[in-house]
Amino acid sequence: MKILITGSNGQLGNEMRTLSKQHPKHTYLFTDIVESGDTHILDITDREAVMAFVREHSIDLIVNCAAYTNVDRAEKDEPTARLINALAVQNLALTGKKIIHISTDYVFSGDEHVPCREDDPVAPRTAYGRTKLEGEQLLSESCPDAVILRTAWLYSPYGNNFVKTMIRLGKERDSIGVVFDQIGTPTYAADLAWAIFTVIEAEEWHPGIYHFTNEGVCSWYDFTIEIHRRSGIRCAVRPILSAEYQYKTPRPHYSVLDKSKFKKTFGVEIPYWTEALERCVKLLNC
Ligand SMILES: NC(=O)c1ccc[n+]([C@@H]2O[C@H](COP(=O)([O-])OP(=O)(O)OC[C@H]3O[C@@H](n4cnc5c(N)ncnc54)[C@H](OP(=O)(O)O)[C@@H]3O)[C@@H](O)[C@H]2O)c1
Repeated sequence: MKILITGSNGQLGNEMRTLSKQHPKHTYLFTDIVESGDTHILDITDREAVMAFVREHSIDLIVNCAAYTNVDRAEKDEPTARLINALAVQNLALTGKKIIHISTDYVFSGDEHVPCREDDPVAPRTAYGRTKLEGEQLLSESCPDAVILRTAWLYSPYGNNFVKTMIRLGKERDSIGVVFDQIGTPTYAADLAWAIFTVIEAEEWHPGIYHFTNEGVCSWYDFTIEIHRRSGIRCAVRPILSAEYQYKTPRPHYSVLDKSKFKKTFGVEIPYWTEALERCVKLLNC
């Protein structure tokens, strides 16, 4: 297959590039809004450019790793977030090709106390969540054959993310306060890339919405303790309440995703979050 990867300079896009080397039977076209290395320029908000690229390169499958991911900035500039997270996804859908699209736990309110299933009611509380939900809806309308993977708390050795921030802060400071009343599951982008290849390589194409994170549950506080422990960082980590932290945008209190559907459909086990973190921290400390 000829596979188009959008947003390939981002966390997930970079992990897709790394893992693609283990799947050499396919041809990959890595694209992003900015050119770099083997990455072609493709702005997914430009419908004509998307159509032309897919036609000229005879693309069979699109993996959409591109997104507007800055939750605080999206609050101030929802039209731009909507352009990238929703309207551009429709551009991809209109190509008529198979699509694997990535969405988020932010489509839910985060007010529940049990893991969210794919068909649970959605109720986004942020501009980012609203635009990502609209992207899902536009994609499902134009391309019912699409696969949508909702994920959460993504980190990797690439770009900016919580793991890298906590390693930096842990080295700079003697103590930090981290919230312990927001619960979720960290996801190593390399494992999400593995999940995407699991979908691609399955004997049958299984369209629909799926939840995928690493296994387990923790707070940002617990996550930080493990990041520091595994990085050999000595920094006092204090548990604090969300109310003590000046969030610019509301954050979900409980955003654990139920992954039963993914595991059952594709017959796989998912790595536990601390084991995944160990692999990432090893790479970061190399
Ligand atoms: N990060 C998380 O914690 C998290 C949580 C849940 C779900 N997700 C979802 O997971 C997916 C991957 O996230 P990620 O963390 O890998 O994102 P990321 O690191 O922010 O990468 C996204 C990439 O898309 C590019 N991009 C932005 N606008 C574009 C456009 N118009 N055309 C083409 N490329 C464009 C970005 O470029 P610029 O950087 O130059 O804008 C960036 O290289 C996204 O769908 C995201 O919504 C992420």
